[in-house]
Amino acid sequence: MTVEKTGRKLSRRNFIALAGGGVVLAVGAGIGAFSLTRTPNAALAPWAQAGQYTEPRRFALSHAILAPNAHNLQPWMVDLSEPGIVTLLPDPTRRLPATDPFDRQLTISLGCFLEQMTIAASAAGYRVETELFPEGSSAETLGDRPVARSRFIEADIATDPLFAQIPHRRSTKDAFDMQQPVAASLLGELEPEVSGIRFDGTVEQARVDRLRTLIWEAWETEYSTPAAHHESVGLMRLGKTEINSNPDGISVGGMPLEALISTGVVTREALATPGTMAYQAGIDMYQPVLEATPAFVWLTSVDNTRESHISAGRAWLRLNLLTTANGLALHPVSQCLQEYPEMEPHYQSAHQLLAQEGDTVQMLGRLGYAAPPPPSPRWSLDDKIKHA
Ligand SMILES: Cc1cc2nc3c(=O)[nH]c(=O)nc-3n(C[C@H](O)[C@H](O)[C@H](O)COP(=O)(O)O)c2cc1C
Repeated sequence: MTVEKTGRKLSRRNFIALAGGGVVLAVGAGIGAFSLTRTPNAALAPWAQAGQYTEPRRFALSHAILAPNAHNLQPWMVDLSEPGIVTLLPDPTRRLPATDPFDRQLTISLGCFLEQMTIAASAAGYRVETELFPEGSSAETLGDRPVARSRFIEADIATDPLFAQIPHRRSTKDAFDMQQPVAASLLGELEPEVSGIRFDGTVEQARVDRLRTLIWEAWETEYSTPAAHHESVGLMRLGKTEINSNPDGISVGGMPLEALISTGVVTREALATPGTMAYQAGIDMYQPVLEATPAFVWLTSVDNTRESHISAGRAWLRLNLLTTANGLALHPVSQCLQEYPEMEPHYQSAHQLLAQEGDTVQMLGRLGYAAPPPPSPRWSLDDKIKHA
């Protein structure tokens, strides 16, 4: 396969050699993307700013914005106009209508945010009382009504031990070390203990193999479903300038990819078009990542209400901080849990494999050992505070 750009041809093999010299990829929620080897500073500034606030809500929120979230869209806004209260609002412009039509993953992301805010508040000596959906909610889409109203109450409480892991937590979208299996006994250390959410996992070879096959088939389905694939490609930030001006979505940057982007070899159009080198590279890069998976973990709930989505987010965040504390890497793989017609057979298989009759699988992730990747970009806290 060749691709013609700016009057020259570049074979796919050359492309991968060029792009592969220590760079290779981070796998986005729907597509292989490429990791940042030289991360742009502005997009990472919020990681250094966490905790640099004396006002307790801002202290907690400066950590909350570092929470994991689907496609790194950071679908949160906060209203601080009432003293001592954080009103969490969804950002309706951050929806994923093709792959998350009912905003389930968006709501889980907001649950991750709330849990990280609550953990950080404990480090400032504040207990947080949260009322969910104070103006109600809809099962169709989240809309723009508040998701939570959280009251900060000064209290004599211990800092949540997971607070120390916040700066180190990552979604590790890399191949894991297959020489280092995950001990079955370690799974017991990872129970996030969130009411209403059941945690489970497996290191058993036959089950891991079955899940890998399912996840690969689901990933291929997403990649070859134009609406779903185009949604991911539209969220790609190609190169340092785009990443710094839009520190969200799927980052595609670092050298030598910067050069391929600036010379027009890697474009959004090429990434979206079957048959191009860039499109094929996404496939070639995802498969070995998924192959190198020694264990899986998942979360289920007995119902599929908005409240359960928030609880699943709280549990996923705690799980991710617990994996960090135990030196483990965690990578969500959500394709087979998505609710659009092309994904239906994989959704059914995932539920047969992982859930009891009638339960909903809310999150599924690869678990193993890997070097921690760099942090992912974030909008600043100021960008996320709603001003009247
Ligand atoms: C609900 C949810 C679903 C996610 N699904 C995927 C996924 O399918 N594939 C993936 O690579 N990452 C997935 N992620 C991880 C996000 O891409 C990641 O949190 C985001 O890019 C920010 O990176 P960080 O977690 O390292 O800070 C998911 C995260 C959440 C909360």
